[in-house]
Amino acid sequence: MGEHRDHRWLRWPSEPDRARLGYGADYNPEQWPRQVWREDARAMRTAGVNIVSLAIFSWARIQPGEDEWDFAWLDEVMDLMHENGIAVDLATATASPPPWLTTRYPEVLPVDHDGHRLWPGGRQHWRPTSPVFRRHALRLTRELAQRYGPHPALTAWHVSNELGCHNVHDYSDDAASAFRTWLRTRYGSLDALNQAWATAFWSQHYSDWAQILPPRLAPTYPNPTQQLDFRRFSSDALKDHLRAERDLLVELTPDIPVTTNFMVTGDSNGMDYADWAGEVDFVANDHYLAPGPQGYDELSFSANLTANLAGGRPWFLMEHSTSAVNWRPVNLPKRPGQMIRDSLTHVAHGADAVCFFQWRQSAAGAEKYHSAMVPHAGEDSDVFRAVTGLGAALRTLAPVAGTTRGRARAAIVFDWESWWVAELDSSPTDRLRYRQEALDWYTAFLDLGLRADVVPLTAPLEDYDLLVAPILHVVPRPLADRLRAYVAAGGHLVTTYFSGTVDENNHVWLGGYPGAIRDLLGIRVQEFAPLADDQSVALDNGTTGTLWTERIELTDSATEVLARYTGGDLAGHPALTRRVVGDGSAAYVSTRLGSAGLATVLAALAEPAGVRSELPEDLRGRVELTVRGPFRFLISRTDPLVDVTAPESFAPVGVVGGEFDRDQAGSGGTPVLQLRGVTVMRVPAEDPVPR
Ligand code: GLA
Ligand code: GLA
Repeated sequence: MGEHRDHRWLRWPSEPDRARLGYGADYNPEQWPRQVWREDARAMRTAGVNIVSLAIFSWARIQPGEDEWDFAWLDEVMDLMHENGIAVDLATATASPPPWLTTRYPEVLPVDHDGHRLWPGGRQHWRPTSPVFRRHALRLTRELAQRYGPHPALTAWHVSNELGCHNVHDYSDDAASAFRTWLRTRYGSLDALNQAWATAFWSQHYSDWAQILPPRLAPTYPNPTQQLDFRRFSSDALKDHLRAERDLLVELTPDIPVTTNFMVTGDSNGMDYADWAGEVDFVANDHYLAPGPQGYDELSFSANLTANLAGGRPWFLMEHSTSAVNWRPVNLPKRPGQMIRDSLTHVAHGADAVCFFQWRQSAAGAEKYHSAMVPHAGEDSDVFRAVTGLGAALRTLAPVAGTTRGRARAAIVFDWESWWVAELDSSPTDRLRYRQEALDWYTAFLDLGLRADVVPLTAPLEDYDLLVAPILHVVPRPLADRLRAYVAAGGHLVTTYFSGTVDENNHVWLGGYPGAIRDLLGIRVQEFAPLADDQSVALDNGTTGTLWTERIELTDSATEVLARYTGGDLAGHPALTRRVVGDGSAAYVSTRLGSAGLATVLAALAEPAGVRSELPEDLRGRVELTVRGPFRFLISRTDPLVDVTAPESFAPVGVVGGEFDRDQAGSGGTPVLQLRGVTVMRVPAEDPVPR
């Protein structure tokens, strides 16, 4: 966890006392002639835009040569935004170095694991560890901070952009040397490193720090601890870059909050955001809807995790899309109503701003087929009408701004190191997908109409009655102790196959799986038995396992069998177990059940933990419920979206939709917003749900 910082929040330049949700986009005026800028400002007001992220890719325009600067255009855009009451989240513009820089200093270019240099021509072609890049980036940051620090439109700093989107794993000589420094700090001595990396294996013993390299392309699997440490180092190297820019900004403009946009979305996993979250004044995230049947759940999962990275404080949705993206194999547009549904799901999970990539769809460049707030078709378009409708909805929801997301009684633990290690090469199966298993549990919660938080290990796990830790693979001793204490204090822990397997050095806990937590679970497993793609195994609770099985021995008289395998070599053996410890329990699921099977299991495990649905029966599964302060969001999970009628049991139903102001917000039980697929209501303060 990063050092503790006082969290500074945005100051809104116009009407500073009015509560509002941010609404806007990345604004890239340098792609357009000047006359379009005034059109932009007018249309932004029509849409209800109140914040833009500016200058994200403007380095070449701001600094056309090493000692040439051009701020006139940016001065004009900053002024224009301010005249229109639009706040600016100003980028440090360091995301994409200009051609003069990479031509004169090619040593800033990243290198892949094969030794190939990655050339300019795209973006983010820089080494996180290059001292030359760092010097130029900080010079630009300083110029921008000095010039725009006093500007009345400036409301926040946006460090770089999506740090690590393309350049997180750099294998260059700069990276090698920084990696050695990082390893010296971690291990202190070569002996300790040799021990941790188990270099006795395959004759890898190091006798000099200079012999150590990043895990470059080798004839076969590189050392697994070297790979893990390189993941940790790579996340840290970019975090260092974030801190370097941030420290300069804090020095020059101490009143302006600093953020950077995380990528808690899909399979993006290079950065350990649990470790980064403490480095920013407010957490910002970019999310792009995944295609497929779990898309809505994945969106909710990501928003939920982002909220818990932010410690429950409001956060910023810095980017998502009004409709299609351009970077998947097939890019589907959003359906009517979907954009608002998706946006409000983020708000439901604590986002105090809804922003898009980008304001005006590019006519040229690599992202010209990526949707935007103003599409190619112009303002006379369904997308722009939906954008304007969303602006109005967010104005209606202004009283939600600043409210804290209500914690659930159950949580799913999400751990980047387990994600990294469980999916490393040379493992029992290469089919295992860490995030998918966690998402399947989340879907199971939603299917049962249960609220669950998705939390990093840095969260107060002890506050939850039910804790699901899927594939918690890396369990150092202190974590094992923490889980034991959690259960001893009456907590209900559920974990799965391939958990508790290794320590922080990726060394197996000996004596039988799931090593570190074997005693807590009251079980022992001698051998993993993953399944082939065409294999599955039935359980006697009606569910079906795929991917993985284990032959479980019970080692404690308090361990009960919740379900057994019925077929194959494991017929009659336990598949699901639960050990009761005082008021708490520790349960184990030894196979992959998928969301439907997990719903069956979860129904049985939630009950003794006292975790119950807060939704009326007919809404369970169809609708997601979230809580923010006195507000409840009810969101359709189906496609096409269903109208969600506020349940009578929640509160008396009054006025539907329409403008809503702070005074009216005092009257309890009134839906403040009702749209296709979404209802937001304010509930009376005495209602027991929010905690
Ligand atoms: C990322 C980047 C944006 C843009 C979008 C497109 O989120 O930050 O600049 O490329 O992807 O989806
Ligand atoms: C080969 C190698 C061994 C070992 C085995 C593993 O036989 O010679 O060192 O790697 O493969 O299957």
